[in-house]
Amino acid sequence: LFLNSTRGYSKTVWVVDRKIKSFIPFSDAQIVIELDGGDESKSLNTWTWLINKFSEFQVDRNSYIVAIGGGSISDLVGYSASVYLRGIPYSIVPSTLLSLIDASLGGKNGINLNQQKNQVGTFYQPANIYCVPQLIKHLPTAEMADGFAEVIKYGLIIDRTLFDTLAATNLEKILSNSNVFQEIINSCIIHKSNIVEEDPFESGKRRILNFGHTIGHAIESVYGLSHGKSVSIGMCFAAKMSDEKSEETTSFLAQLVPVLKQFQLPTKLEKFSSDLVFEKIKADKKREDDFIHFVFLNKIGTALVEKISLNDLRTIMKKAEEEKWIS
Ligand SMILES: NC(=O)c1ccc[n+]([C@@H]2O[C@H](COP(=O)([O-])OP(=O)(O)OC[C@H]3O[C@@H](n4cnc5c(N)ncnc54)[C@H](O)[C@@H]3O)[C@@H](O)[C@H]2O)c1
Repeated sequence: LFLNSTRGYSKTVWVVDRKIKSFIPFSDAQIVIELDGGDESKSLNTWTWLINKFSEFQVDRNSYIVAIGGGSISDLVGYSASVYLRGIPYSIVPSTLLSLIDASLGGKNGINLNQQKNQVGTFYQPANIYCVPQLIKHLPTAEMADGFAEVIKYGLIIDRTLFDTLAATNLEKILSNSNVFQEIINSCIIHKSNIVEEDPFESGKRRILNFGHTIGHAIESVYGLSHGKSVSIGMCFAAKMSDEKSEETTSFLAQLVPVLKQFQLPTKLEKFSSDLVFEKIKADKKREDDFIHFVFLNKIGTALVEKISLNDLRTIMKKAEEEKWIS
């Protein structure tokens, strides 16, 4: 389907993760740009290289770009398509679970700046998102686990039933049951699409999707862990912060940790430096003057966003370091 999606455009440029190029039956006549997947590609250098390639291939406003890869490729290509010639149409073929249920949906894109996540980017919706299950099948278990960090997040913030389903199973069992796996993928796509439709520019409800991401993105930048693993640890931090202010009798963190472990996700860092991580948080996009929007759990399946002062967050992070919440 996606290989035939180019009708009506003067030219199509395919930007594909090098690791999966051989799975796609491109012809010699097609313009294909190969890139390494991974966060290193979300850089100013790679972005400059890519838009120069667009120029070299004489991409014009009637051209069409297709990004085939994980979130790193769609973030880079989405941003490039949104600014090149003030915007050219593009589509995404997600090749990772994380991208299929999260990164490809919602129109956010971006590249990193000075090791700071997604500092440069736009909101720019793809024309289409094509789900090609055969691509996901090639994904190594570690990357599959990364995707489950975001699946677990949807359970925590929106969908108690999903969380309970995940709590009663594990990664191997889900991967060996394609019906259950497909149902989970469908639920996540619906959750993300509904939220994005309600709040496309993240000025309200969409903020709950950042659960675990304030600390997670900072961990990703400081310690170079993958997005999914960083979010996993970030969610533990946010669950513990939620515990501190909650009147619930059962700890969120105590409920979350076994589920993350069942999905082969980390719950702690070897070493946590609150100073290094806080430095990154100060440059977070969610910051407004001396405050930041932080997502707490209200109950399993509901979240709330509160503005907290950077000073208070710094104090909490110092305490977390001393009390070894995540190390
Ligand atoms: N825009 C958004 O809303 C949004 C949301 C979540 C995450 N993200 C971003 O997504 C990125 C993470 O993306 P990701 O986890 O999808 O992975 P990725 O693009 O970083 O790729 C991870 C690894 O998997 C490989 N890979 C990709 N597809 C494969 C396949 N089918 N088979 C084998 N290997 C494959 C890649 O080459 C790479 O080595 C981060 O940069 C994060 O910031 C963006």
